[in-house]
Amino acid sequence: MANGTLTGHVALEKELAAFYDQKEAMVFSTGFVANLGMLSSLMGRGDVILLDADCHASIYDGCRLSGADFIRFRHNDAAHMDERLRRLGDRAADTLIVVEGIYSMFGDRAALEEIVAVKKKYGAFLMVDEAHSLGVLGAHGRGCAEEAGVENEVDFIVGTFSKSLAAIGGFCVSNHPELELIRYASRPYIFTASSSPSAIASTREALKIIQQRPELRRQLWENANQLYRGLKALGYVLGPEPSPVISVRLKEAKKAFSCWQGLLNEGVYTNLVLPPATPDGGSLLRCSVSAAHTPEQISRIIAAFATVSR
Ligand SMILES: Cc1ncc(COP(=O)(O)O)c(C=O)c1O
Repeated sequence: MANGTLTGHVALEKELAAFYDQKEAMVFSTGFVANLGMLSSLMGRGDVILLDADCHASIYDGCRLSGADFIRFRHNDAAHMDERLRRLGDRAADTLIVVEGIYSMFGDRAALEEIVAVKKKYGAFLMVDEAHSLGVLGAHGRGCAEEAGVENEVDFIVGTFSKSLAAIGGFCVSNHPELELIRYASRPYIFTASSSPSAIASTREALKIIQQRPELRRQLWENANQLYRGLKALGYVLGPEPSPVISVRLKEAKKAFSCWQGLLNEGVYTNLVLPPATPDGGSLLRCSVSAAHTPEQISRIIAAFATVSR
């Protein structure tokens, strides 16, 4: 708002709006800042935010910064969400529901059809963080809302450039014309530097590639399915469904650490996630599958997990 918005930023906002077929778009400096900036300026004291318990730290922090009352519902449980909204009475219609497209810890998808049905019942608002689902789900790669056929029912889609777009930055798109006003109200938008022109340029190119090369999405899913099947066959406890985020769930942090080290010795890097960063107090070895992995590399990863499990 003050400065730092260059031609590239404006062009990217237009391209994101066109990609999502939404009227408005805003680019933020990171995905974390997009959640902070949106939640803290959309919502305020006296408002209610209803969020999935497994939401990312940036969503929790955005809720805190907003000053609104925020209430969790059980992960992906639309019936529990319904119950929470019912108890809110008159406040339900102004409530903002926040969910993710693909959840960052266990790689499972939001039950968006059910969530949207409940949202409509109460006339509430819905924000979906498509950080892990942009480029991954839907016929055009627009994410979980596209796949579920509910894009018209989502008020705000937020996301990041740091996953499938391989850069740094974040965004929000919406059909609400008031999104433009957020530029003048959002402290995390105003009081930080804009994404660098080079990050914006590479993001614009990556967004084009997502649209022009759907075969990358097919490859990504083949890789994800191959790894999920392979790890499952080894007896590992995984998240509920295959996705590019595949988490091997281990109860003890010590065991998780030694597996992580063993995998590293085999040439395989995973994200070690320890409590309190995990939703259930367990530990995770989180694998991020990419379209650039070859089937041979996925086989090598599975073989490394087999060695470690022995
Ligand atoms: C669901 C979700 N939202 C937001 C973010 C933050 O994105 P960024 O890395 O661009 O700050 C992440 C990244 O870790 C995420 O998993």
